Amino acid sequence: TLPFDLAGKRVVVTSGGTREEIDPVRFLGNHSSGKQGHAIAALASARGAEVTLVTSSSLPVPPAVTKIDIESARELREQTLEAAAVADIVIKAAAVADFRPADVSDSKLKKGSDGEPAEIRLTRNPDILADLVAARAIGEVPSSCVLVGFAAETGDTSGTVLEHGRAKLARKGCDFLVVNEVGRDTTFGKDDNGGWILDSEGGEILVERASKDLLAARILDAVVARTTT
Ligand code: C5P
Repeated sequence: TLPFDLAGKRVVVTSGGTREEIDPVRFLGNHSSGKQGHAIAALASARGAEVTLVTSSSLPVPPAVTKIDIESARELREQTLEAAAVADIVIKAAAVADFRPADVSDSKLKKGSDGEPAEIRLTRNPDILADLVAARAIGEVPSSCVLVGFAAETGDTSGTVLEHGRAKLARKGCDFLVVNEVGRDTTFGKDDNGGWILDSEGGEILVERASKDLLAARILDAVVARTTT
Protein backbone atom coordinates (compact mmCIF):
# COMPACT_ATOMS: atom_id res chain seq x y z
CA THR A 1 0.00 0.00 0.00
CA LEU A 2 1.09 3.56 -0.68
CA PRO A 3 1.99 5.96 2.13
CA PHE A 4 -0.57 8.79 2.49
CA ASP A 5 2.25 11.17 3.35
CA LEU A 6 1.30 14.05 1.04
CA ALA A 7 -2.20 14.57 2.42
CA GLY A 8 -3.08 18.26 2.44
CA LYS A 9 0.00 19.22 0.41
CA ARG A 10 -0.30 21.28 -2.73
CA VAL A 11 2.03 19.96 -5.41
CA VAL A 12 2.72 21.58 -8.78
CA VAL A 13 4.31 19.43 -11.48
CA THR A 14 5.42 20.58 -14.92
CA SER A 15 5.92 18.03 -17.66
CA GLY A 16 6.51 17.57 -21.36
CA GLY A 17 8.29 19.80 -23.81
CA THR A 18 7.55 23.30 -24.98
CA ARG A 19 6.61 24.47 -28.46
CA GLU A 20 7.96 27.77 -29.67
CA GLU A 21 6.12 29.15 -32.66
CA ILE A 22 8.11 29.94 -35.80
CA ASP A 23 5.20 30.74 -38.12
CA PRO A 24 1.53 29.63 -38.33
CA VAL A 25 2.49 26.04 -39.19
CA ARG A 26 5.87 25.37 -37.54
CA PHE A 27 7.42 25.27 -34.11
CA LEU A 28 10.69 24.51 -32.33
CA GLY A 29 10.20 21.64 -29.91
CA ASN A 30 11.87 18.70 -28.22
CA HIS A 31 11.24 15.01 -27.68
CA SER A 32 10.00 15.17 -24.09
CA SER A 33 6.85 13.04 -23.80
CA GLY A 34 5.63 14.12 -20.37
CA LYS A 35 5.75 10.57 -18.99
CA GLN A 36 8.11 11.30 -16.08
CA GLY A 37 6.12 14.32 -14.92
CA HIS A 38 2.86 12.43 -15.31
CA ALA A 39 4.25 9.59 -13.20
CA ILE A 40 5.14 12.08 -10.46
CA ALA A 41 1.74 13.79 -10.66
CA ALA A 42 -0.13 10.47 -10.51
CA LEU A 43 1.86 9.20 -7.54
CA ALA A 44 1.70 12.50 -5.60
CA SER A 45 -2.07 12.46 -6.09
CA ALA A 46 -2.32 8.83 -4.94
CA ARG A 47 -0.25 9.76 -1.86
CA GLY A 48 -2.84 12.40 -0.94
CA ALA A 49 -1.59 15.63 -2.52
CA GLU A 50 -3.71 18.18 -4.36
CA VAL A 51 -1.85 18.16 -7.68
CA THR A 52 -1.72 20.72 -10.49
CA LEU A 53 -0.03 19.48 -13.66
CA VAL A 54 1.13 22.20 -16.05
CA THR A 55 1.93 20.53 -19.34
CA SER A 56 1.97 20.44 -23.11
CA SER A 57 1.53 16.67 -23.04
CA SER A 58 -1.64 15.00 -24.27
CA LEU A 59 -1.15 11.90 -22.12
CA PRO A 60 -4.24 10.96 -20.07
CA VAL A 61 -4.60 13.13 -16.95
CA PRO A 62 -4.02 11.05 -13.78
CA PRO A 63 -6.99 10.66 -11.38
CA ALA A 64 -7.86 13.75 -9.30
CA VAL A 65 -5.12 15.84 -10.95
CA THR A 66 -5.91 19.34 -12.28
CA LYS A 67 -4.32 19.84 -15.69
CA ILE A 68 -3.37 23.21 -17.13
CA ASP A 69 -2.49 23.18 -20.83
CA ILE A 70 0.44 25.21 -22.09
CA GLU A 71 2.51 25.35 -25.25
CA SER A 72 5.33 27.87 -25.00
CA ALA A 73 7.89 28.44 -22.25
CA ARG A 74 6.32 31.81 -21.52
CA GLU A 75 2.88 30.23 -21.02
CA LEU A 76 4.50 27.57 -18.84
CA ARG A 77 6.19 30.27 -16.77
CA GLU A 78 2.98 32.24 -16.23
CA GLN A 79 0.91 29.22 -15.16
CA THR A 80 3.66 27.70 -13.01
CA LEU A 81 4.31 30.93 -11.09
CA GLU A 82 0.58 31.38 -10.50
CA ALA A 83 0.13 27.83 -9.22
CA ALA A 84 3.35 28.02 -7.16
CA ALA A 85 2.01 31.01 -5.20
CA VAL A 86 0.10 28.56 -2.96
CA ALA A 87 2.28 25.45 -3.40
CA ASP A 88 4.15 23.32 -0.87
CA ILE A 89 6.20 21.54 -3.53
CA VAL A 90 7.04 22.37 -7.17
CA ILE A 91 8.58 19.69 -9.37
CA LYS A 92 9.88 20.91 -12.72
CA ALA A 93 10.10 17.88 -14.96
CA ALA A 94 9.27 19.87 -18.11
CA ALA A 95 11.90 20.19 -20.82
CA VAL A 96 11.82 23.93 -21.41
CA ALA A 97 13.20 25.43 -24.62
CA ASP A 98 16.06 27.75 -23.73
CA PHE A 99 15.44 29.78 -26.90
CA ARG A 100 12.53 30.82 -29.10
CA PRO A 101 12.34 32.56 -32.45
CA ALA A 102 12.85 36.29 -31.89
CA ASP A 103 10.07 37.14 -34.34
CA VAL A 104 7.05 35.00 -35.12
CA SER A 105 6.14 35.27 -38.78
CA ASP A 106 2.44 36.01 -39.52
CA SER A 107 2.65 33.92 -42.67
CA LYS A 108 4.38 30.65 -43.48
CA LEU A 109 8.11 31.16 -44.03
CA LYS A 110 9.10 30.59 -47.64
CA LYS A 111 12.34 29.46 -49.20
CA GLY A 112 14.34 32.36 -50.61
CA SER A 113 14.23 32.91 -54.40
CA ASP A 114 17.59 31.11 -54.56
CA GLY A 115 16.18 28.13 -52.65
CA GLU A 116 18.18 29.04 -49.55
CA PRO A 117 16.57 28.64 -46.13
CA ALA A 118 15.12 31.60 -44.31
CA GLU A 119 17.15 32.57 -41.27
CA ILE A 120 15.50 32.17 -37.88
CA ARG A 121 16.95 34.43 -35.22
CA LEU A 122 16.58 33.13 -31.68
CA THR A 123 16.15 34.91 -28.39
CA ARG A 124 16.41 33.63 -24.81
CA ASN A 125 13.46 32.24 -22.93
CA PRO A 126 13.05 32.98 -19.23
CA ASP A 127 14.51 30.37 -16.85
CA ILE A 128 11.37 29.38 -14.96
CA LEU A 129 13.21 27.51 -12.22
CA ALA A 130 15.44 30.51 -11.54
CA ASP A 131 12.32 32.72 -11.52
CA LEU A 132 10.66 30.40 -8.96
CA VAL A 133 13.72 30.64 -6.72
CA ALA A 134 13.65 34.44 -7.04
CA ALA A 135 9.88 34.55 -6.39
CA ARG A 136 10.38 32.48 -3.24
CA ALA A 137 13.08 34.85 -2.03
CA ILE A 138 10.64 37.79 -2.14
CA GLY A 139 7.66 35.88 -0.73
CA GLU A 140 5.61 35.48 -3.91
CA VAL A 141 6.09 31.74 -3.48
CA PRO A 142 5.89 30.44 0.13
CA SER A 143 9.33 30.39 1.77
CA SER A 144 8.69 26.79 2.85
CA CYS A 145 7.97 25.66 -0.72
CA VAL A 146 10.34 22.90 -1.86
CA LEU A 147 11.65 23.43 -5.41
CA VAL A 148 12.79 20.43 -7.45
CA GLY A 149 14.56 20.86 -10.79
CA PHE A 150 15.60 18.35 -13.41
CA ALA A 151 18.81 18.25 -15.41
CA ALA A 152 18.67 16.28 -18.60
CA GLU A 153 22.11 15.11 -19.61
CA THR A 154 23.03 13.27 -22.76
CA GLY A 155 26.01 10.98 -23.02
CA ASP A 156 27.88 9.43 -20.14
CA THR A 157 26.53 9.27 -16.62
CA SER A 158 29.98 9.18 -15.06
CA GLY A 159 31.44 11.52 -12.48
CA THR A 160 31.34 14.51 -14.79
CA VAL A 161 27.57 14.36 -15.03
CA LEU A 162 27.34 14.38 -11.25
CA GLU A 163 29.77 17.28 -11.03
CA HIS A 164 27.74 19.22 -13.55
CA GLY A 165 24.62 18.37 -11.57
CA ARG A 166 26.14 19.71 -8.35
CA ALA A 167 27.21 22.90 -10.07
CA LYS A 168 23.79 23.31 -11.66
CA LEU A 169 22.01 22.76 -8.33
CA ALA A 170 24.11 25.50 -6.75
CA ARG A 171 23.63 27.81 -9.72
CA LYS A 172 19.87 27.33 -9.90
CA GLY A 173 19.36 27.68 -6.15
CA CYS A 174 16.64 25.02 -5.92
CA ASP A 175 16.43 22.39 -3.17
CA PHE A 176 16.74 19.23 -5.25
CA LEU A 177 18.05 18.47 -8.71
CA VAL A 178 17.19 15.22 -10.44
CA VAL A 179 19.98 14.40 -12.87
CA ASN A 180 18.91 11.96 -15.55
CA GLU A 181 20.36 10.76 -18.79
CA VAL A 182 18.17 11.48 -21.78
CA GLY A 183 18.33 10.95 -25.49
CA ARG A 184 16.19 10.22 -28.48
CA ASP A 185 16.35 6.47 -27.92
CA THR A 186 16.87 6.21 -24.18
CA THR A 187 14.59 8.20 -21.91
CA PHE A 188 12.28 10.40 -23.97
CA GLY A 189 8.98 8.65 -24.55
CA LYS A 190 10.18 5.51 -22.78
CA ASP A 191 8.85 4.01 -19.56
CA ASP A 192 12.17 3.68 -17.78
CA ASN A 193 14.47 6.26 -16.27
CA GLY A 194 17.19 6.55 -13.65
CA GLY A 195 19.77 8.95 -12.29
CA TRP A 196 20.69 10.86 -9.18
CA ILE A 197 18.61 12.92 -6.81
CA LEU A 198 20.91 15.63 -5.45
CA ASP A 199 19.91 17.86 -2.57
CA SER A 200 21.26 21.27 -1.66
CA GLU A 201 22.54 19.98 1.69
CA GLY A 202 24.98 17.67 -0.09
CA GLY A 203 22.94 14.48 -0.13
CA GLU A 204 22.76 12.29 -3.19
CA ILE A 205 20.59 9.30 -3.93
CA LEU A 206 21.38 7.01 -6.85
CA VAL A 207 18.27 5.59 -8.50
CA GLU A 208 19.19 2.64 -10.70
CA ARG A 209 17.68 2.68 -14.15
CA ALA A 210 14.17 1.27 -13.71
CA SER A 211 10.69 2.66 -14.18
CA LYS A 212 9.66 6.31 -14.24
CA ASP A 213 7.26 5.30 -11.46
CA LEU A 214 10.17 4.22 -9.26
CA LEU A 215 12.08 7.45 -9.89
CA ALA A 216 8.86 9.37 -9.08
CA ALA A 217 8.56 7.49 -5.77
CA ARG A 218 12.20 8.18 -4.83
CA ILE A 219 11.80 11.89 -5.61
CA LEU A 220 8.65 12.18 -3.48
CA ASP A 221 10.30 10.19 -0.65
CA ALA A 222 13.26 12.58 -0.69
CA VAL A 223 11.03 15.67 -0.64
CA VAL A 224 8.86 14.26 2.19
CA ALA A 225 12.00 13.42 4.20
CA ARG A 226 13.18 17.02 3.84
CA THR A 227 9.83 18.55 4.84
CA THR A 228 9.39 16.39 7.92
CA THR A 229 12.88 16.80 9.40
O1 C5P B 1 19.54 24.57 -17.27
P1 C5P B 1 18.74 23.35 -17.58
O2 C5P B 1 17.82 23.53 -18.74
O3 C5P B 1 19.52 22.09 -17.69
O4 C5P B 1 17.86 23.17 -16.27
C1 C5P B 1 16.90 22.20 -16.18
C2 C5P B 1 15.85 22.57 -15.16
O5 C5P B 1 15.51 23.94 -15.28
C3 C5P B 1 14.55 21.79 -15.39
O6 C5P B 1 13.93 21.57 -14.15
C4 C5P B 1 13.76 22.73 -16.27
O7 C5P B 1 12.36 22.51 -16.11
C5 C5P B 1 14.19 24.08 -15.75
N1 C5P B 1 14.21 25.13 -16.78
C6 C5P B 1 13.33 26.17 -16.67
N2 C5P B 1 13.32 27.17 -17.60
C7 C5P B 1 14.17 27.14 -18.65
C8 C5P B 1 15.10 26.07 -18.77
C9 C5P B 1 15.07 25.08 -17.83
O8 C5P B 1 12.56 26.19 -15.70
N3 C5P B 1 14.14 28.12 -19.54
